[in-house]
Formats: sequence, C-alpha cells, structure tokens
Amino acid sequence: MVYITNLSDHVDEEVTLKGWVYNYRSSKNLYFLELRDGSGICQCVVARDAVSEEVWNSADTLRQESSLEVIGIVVEDERSIGGYELQVTDIKVIQVAEDYPITPKEHGVDFLMENRHLWLRSRRQWAAMRVRNAIIYAIHTFFQERGFVQMDAPIFTGNAAEGTTNLFETEYFDEEAYLTQSGQLYGEAMAMAHGLIYTFGPTFRAEKSKTRRHLTEFWMIEPEMAFYDLDMNIDLAENFTKFVIKKVLERCENELEILERDTTTLKKTVEESFPRISYTEAVERLKSDEMADMLDQMVEDRKQEKTELKEEQDEIEKERGQAKKWRKAQIDQRIKEIGARIDQIEEDLRNIPDWRESALNFTWGEDFGGSDETLLTMQYDTPIFVHRYPAEIKAFYMKRDPEDENLALAVDMLAPEGYGEVIGGSEREADLDTLKKRLAEHDLPEDVFQWYLDLRQYGTVPHSGFGLGLERTVSWLCGLDHVRETIPFPRMMGRLTP
Ligand code: 4AD
Ligand code: MG
Repeated sequence: MVYITNLSDHVDEEVTLKGWVYNYRSSKNLYFLELRDGSGICQCVVARDAVSEEVWNSADTLRQESSLEVIGIVVEDERSIGGYELQVTDIKVIQVAEDYPITPKEHGVDFLMENRHLWLRSRRQWAAMRVRNAIIYAIHTFFQERGFVQMDAPIFTGNAAEGTTNLFETEYFDEEAYLTQSGQLYGEAMAMAHGLIYTFGPTFRAEKSKTRRHLTEFWMIEPEMAFYDLDMNIDLAENFTKFVIKKVLERCENELEILERDTTTLKKTVEESFPRISYTEAVERLKSDEMADMLDQMVEDRKQEKTELKEEQDEIEKERGQAKKWRKAQIDQRIKEIGARIDQIEEDLRNIPDWRESALNFTWGEDFGGSDETLLTMQYDTPIFVHRYPAEIKAFYMKRDPEDENLALAVDMLAPEGYGEVIGGSEREADLDTLKKRLAEHDLPEDVFQWYLDLRQYGTVPHSGFGLGLERTVSWLCGLDHVRETIPFPRMMGRLTP
C-alpha cells in the first residue's frame, strides 16, 4: 500500500491507494475524483476508455466519503493538489457512503460542532490537527534533548492548585476529589527528585465564561526546574517558544498554507528577542496618551481602508459584466476577500472604543482582560513577557519580589495578533513558614497540602516553572479564531458530545 504523501517515490509506477472520496466531478468521458487517504489528497482521473465498463459505472455511483481502493499510474502534474495525479486503471469500492452531511457548502458552527466526529475529515481541520501533532512532537523534543524528565501528574487530586473558583469536583469513594487544574505541585515534588522535569497532560477548569480562549479540558505543558530563578525561567520559556515555532514552520508548510496562515510574524518570533516589561509598566502603557492616540489613529486607518476597499469593490463589480470567465472567477474571489476584510474592520470599529475605554479606566491591581492583552501586544510582532504581577491576583505558591512584597515573581507570555496569554509561570515560594502563611491567606487547608509543605522541609531550593496551554498555542500558530478547532473533541460549557 502506498500513501499519498509518498507519491513522489512512485512516479510512473502503478500503485494502490486506499481512502475516501473527498470530492468528485464528472463529465461525459472523464471522472475526477479527489481521494484522501489521511496523509494527503490526490486527484485521480478515470478516463472512460482506460477502464472497464464495470469500473466506469462503479465510479459513477460514488459519493462524498465513500471508501475505496484506487489502482493507477502515478504521473507528475504541477497543476494537481500535491503535484501528482493518478491515472486510474481500476477501482474497488469498499462502501458507498450515505449522503454525507458535511458538504463543501458552508455550515454554521453549531452544526459543525455536533458533527465534530465527521468535521475532523475536512481539510482545514485535518491541517490544524497536524499542526497540533507537530507542536506536541517539538515540545517533547525540546525538553528531552535538554535532559528534562517527562512525568505524569495525577488527574484526581485532593488539593486545589489554581484557586478554588473553577474546580471540578467529583466523588472519590467516600471522599471528595477534584479534577486537576495543573500538574505543577506534583511537578515540584518530581523536580526535587530529578532537577529538570516536565508534565504534559490534560487539565480541567470549570470555566463558565464562553470565550474563544477557554476550554474546560485542555492540555498543559509544565516544566519545573530546581535552582532556576525567574529570569532563567523566562529565558527558558523564550527559547522553548522559538524552538516550537521553528519546528512547526519547518514541518508544516503545507498545513499552514491550507489554513491560509500568514507566517510573517511567526518567522519574526523565531528570530527576534521578546520584550520583557513589568506589570506596572504595562499598566502605565495601557493608560498612556500614546495608547489613546494609537487607538484613535487605528480608527482613522480602518475607516480609510474600508473606503478604499469599497471603491475597489465598485470598480471590479462594474468590470464583471463584460469579463471573461477566468477574470470573473478572479473578481468573485477578490469580492469575497474584500467582504471578509470589511467584516473584520467593522468588528474592530465596534470594539476599539470599548478597548480604549477599559484601558484608560484600568486600575493597578486588576488582572488584564483579553482586550488589554491585545492592546499590550499590538506594537509587537513577537510575544511579550509581563512580569511581577500584584501578588493579590496570583496563586498562593508564588514567591514575592524581595524588592516589593506586593508583587509576585510571576510571568505571563502574551502572544501577538490578539492571541493573548499562552504561558503563565513563576518562581515558587521556597520557605516553609512563608508558604504556610500564604495557604492561610488563601483560605486553603494545610492538611491536604502537608506533602507539598514537606518539599520545603527536606532540602528546599529556589525553583521555578511555567505552563504553556497547548490549545491556545495551536490556535495562535494556525491563526484560528477559536480554541474549539484546536483539539479533536473540545470540551466547553454546554459541549460534552461528541
Ligand atoms: O496561567 P495558568 O493558570 O498557570 C498554571 O496553571 C500554572 N500552574 C503553570 C505553571 O506555572 N506550571 O495556566 C497556564 C496556561 C495559560 O497561560 C493558558 O495558555 C492555559 O494554561 N490555560 C487555558 N487554556 C485553555 N482553556 C483554559 N480554560 C485555560 N486556562 C489556562
Ligand atoms: Mg494565567
């Protein structure tokens, strides 16, 4: 059996491909079948005079997603998807599919989510899952090459890690258990045994807000390093992010093209160093006159762009009447693009006043909202690190800044292009008594954390770590609007099936 990705090794040979009908069109004497086999898509051409009558007739019964074997000769053809074409000599139908609900015409998101088990076969979804796979591979490669030990943290836990507001509770025989929000605390124990470790597993948060960045079940990569301070932690996060993006750019050229991802900023991310600013500086920046001016200017620019697009649209619409067929297709394509861009501009024009308002009213001590993160990253092509947050809004385990007790030695990495926080991390509190005090301040029971306190009692050391959200990373690298398309079967409020 040959896979479509390997067709270049089989030019002029007869091969058997096994897969599903992705698309088809027929004319009197030719039948074009786009076959997908999981590895890619290949156009197969059935010529009436090159096959038996039986094969020709069976081709005619095929519908989208029918399963089959196709035998034919591989020929190079630049115009074909993937650069190769199969000249069919024989077809063996495995099953003629029922009318497939997901046809190339457009469907609403709800319908697609209900049919996620089938939607996964579509080209864009296929590409996004491949990018996810490449990211996972790069993550393991990065840490394994640097001597980190992968550890599996438990999913049932008796203690909260990231605050108690979004815990999923579950019965555990006659006890109460929680689904883990983070593997970090267990990672800290393991780091004291191995020095450098990382966890990579599912984590759960009862997120009641419906946003494009939140799932209730998501995957997190959490490295934890003994003897690392905050700066070393940030250096590692930056190198790690660059490594992952570089690998995805190398391995997923085709996928990113299918996703129509403009990779300009991703390429810059690999090369340039990421700005690092403190929370306090970030707040000043949000409230600055420059920020207000920048947003006013943005409104002007968007309006101007919209006017120009409308003019272009009028012009090509006039031309369309007399245009040749190929030019008509070009015009239709451009009109579609203009429409999409205008929708985007109108959305921005609705949003910017609110963003401006909330940035100007931001008070020191609050947490950044999605729009604040967008504004903070707007001037940059790379992610930025924001460090030293108010301790009040951060987790109990974070070490305080020795220079200012009100600040936690925390860091978030905010991705550009509106993707926002993808990494959260910190240096950890290493002192036993201080940590006990923090538990009390956060109303957390000491007994369930006894094992965690032990880590500070038996050879405590400075240590740090961070967590990268896999789905937000996939969303960013693929240029997707919503995390629901970044995981095979997303779990969100109101979504438990399929
Ligand atoms: O900032 P968070 O809450 O940090 C932690 O959990 C730490 N224990 C990590 C550590 O220091 N070891 O979450 C880390 C990242 C976020 O930056 C975000 O990318 C992702 O996890 N994340 C979510 N992704 C999807 N849906 C959600 N509901 C998410 N909540 C957090
Ligand atoms: Mg966070």
